[in-house]
This record gives sequence, C-alpha cells and structure tokens, in this order.
Amino acid sequence: MIKNWESLEAECKKCRRCNLCDTRTNLVFGEGNLKSKILFVGEGPGYNEDVQGRPFVGRSGKLLDNLLEEINLSREKIYISNIVKCRPPENRDPLPEEQEKYINWLRNQVYIMRPKIIVTLGRIASLKIIDSEIKITRDHGIFTLKKGVWFMPTLHPPPF
Ligand code: URA
Repeated sequence: MIKNWESLEAECKKCRRCNLCDTRTNLVFGEGNLKSKILFVGEGPGYNEDVQGRPFVGRSGKLLDNLLEEINLSREKIYISNIVKCRPPENRDPLPEEQEKYINWLRNQVYIMRPKIIVTLGRIASLKIIDSEIKITRDHGIFTLKKGVWFMPTLHPPPF
C-alpha cells in the first residue's frame, strides 16, 4: 500500500490497467476533505467529471450538493471518489473487470483516509463495495458494520 496521498494520486494517474484511460480526458481521483471520517463513493465519472477532472460536478452533483446540505454536510466536510477513476465511454456502466482493475486504488484511498462511514452512491458502487446481493431499492439507507467501518448504500442522485 502507498502511504502518502500525493504519491497515490500520482501513481493512479499513470494507471494503464484497463482501456478506459484511452478514451478519457481527465482521470478523476476524488476531492474533498481528507481528514473527514465520511467517504462517498460513486461508480465512475460522467461527461462533466471527465472534462473537469472532478467528481460529481454535473447535474447529479448539483443534486448531491443539495442533499448534503439538507443533512448539514458539504463537500468541505466529506471526501468523494468513485470506483473507476476514468469515464466509461458513453457513460455506460463500468464493466466488472474494469471495476476490479480499479478497486485497489480505492482500497488504498481508504487505507490512508481511514473513514468511519462509507456511503455508496448507486447500485454499482453498492454491489462492488458492500455486498453483491444488495437490492438498492430495498436496501438503500441501511447501515452495515464491517471491520469497524459503517457502510450505507444509497440511490444514485439522478442526473436531472
Ligand atoms: N456519477 C458518479 O457515479 N460519479 C461521478 O463522479 C458523477 C456521477
């Protein structure tokens, strides 16, 4: 495991483990407060995120900001990242093999950040990170404790 955040980000930006880097504009490593105990994880960058190199900056990002505000949170109080760090073409779901190639980058982010709560945004991130049996419409909002970390799946903020 890489112990330093800047080194981890620099290494991740060199990643050529799958083909997504061939079609993306920017790798989206994540953004927010590294001292936060809350980590939000989406599935992967969309069009706007790819252009700006930042997570959740498109329409679903605006909705996410509003939802955070309702519970007295903001981007400055949390960290946000994604399972895959490069945009899948046409915003398709990241393939299982692509997710698998990226997951160690996320594990390393968790290793350094040591969050107490991990909130997964949407079905794909929830299945990959929490439990492959999750039914997102049934299980969203339910906390599970695993190895000292609370995990909660949520519905992905819809992009409208
Ligand atoms: N949806 C995601 O899952 N991640 C982003 O960064 C933006 C939209």
